Amino acid sequence: MGKSSGYGKVIIFGEHFVVHGVPGIVSATDAKTDAEVNKAATGIVINDERTGSKGYAEEKKQQQIESIQRMLRAIGLPADTPMSIWIGGNLPGFSGLGASAASSVAIARAISEEFGMGLSDERVNKVAYEAEKAYAGNPSGIDNTAATYGGLLWFRKNEQDGTEIVEKITMKEPAEIIIGSTGKVANTKAMVEGVAERKKQNPARYNLLFKRAEEIALEGRKALEAGDLKKLGELMDENHTLLQGIEVSSKELDLLVDVARKQGAWGAKLTGGGGGGCMTALTPGKELQEKVALAIEKAGFQVLRTKIGAKKA
Ligand code: MEV
Repeated sequence: MGKSSGYGKVIIFGEHFVVHGVPGIVSATDAKTDAEVNKAATGIVINDERTGSKGYAEEKKQQQIESIQRMLRAIGLPADTPMSIWIGGNLPGFSGLGASAASSVAIARAISEEFGMGLSDERVNKVAYEAEKAYAGNPSGIDNTAATYGGLLWFRKNEQDGTEIVEKITMKEPAEIIIGSTGKVANTKAMVEGVAERKKQNPARYNLLFKRAEEIALEGRKALEAGDLKKLGELMDENHTLLQGIEVSSKELDLLVDVARKQGAWGAKLTGGGGGGCMTALTPGKELQEKVALAIEKAGFQVLRTKIGAKKA
């Protein structure tokens, strides 16, 4: 049996913009997806026991099968290599939390173990990137990078040659955040395609928004490194406005962002692909974190309480 895991993630700055060469900042969550792989006699059987958004596993089934075939080819095994795959762990299957990348990394590592392939983290990351194409179409690579390495990361992909810059960001003290789920399963691939299409239709307007997104990522990195949480929160708020500008927010995401801000969050924004999925809010201190989390739960939504900049994740 091969057994392994991959981290979930929360994007603090730059989702969507990162696909087009703008830097992004991502934090792994301490919640993870686990996978177990066993060689089998015939077929690929998937037993997905992740909890979370109702319907997440069913809606993503087709993409999941495609992703595993892509992964097997990238590893160098036939796309129909018989095996049974179990997926579980404490990372909820909320859209926006990098559940697909976390599962790709977990499965790739478990296959590597079961088939004695000894894949390095670098190879696992590349294989998971290939698998991510089934879910995101043209992914930047930020999700699988966070799922593979964990921690708080600066990520930039060169749009022309595909090279990546990945750097660890260190915070003096970790800070509490919450992640609120709209409960709506989002189609990241459609969201990414929509942004690319609108960017092509409105170059002048989109170039301005993309330029500001780049400045926000740079200022955000400085704020994280300096422990300036007030500035960090302001930049998260502004990043949400930019995401509304490129039309990836939704009624429910705006509502949850609003609830969080009204309860005193220092900043709030959607996180991940948008169009449903999740939002995150900066809530320094256990007390504020609990207050914001309870308000979102009272409004009928699920919440994950976690931290950015913690040593472990
Ligand atoms: C999804 O978590 C993040 C996106 O920017 C897509 C990607 O970067 O691959 C929307």
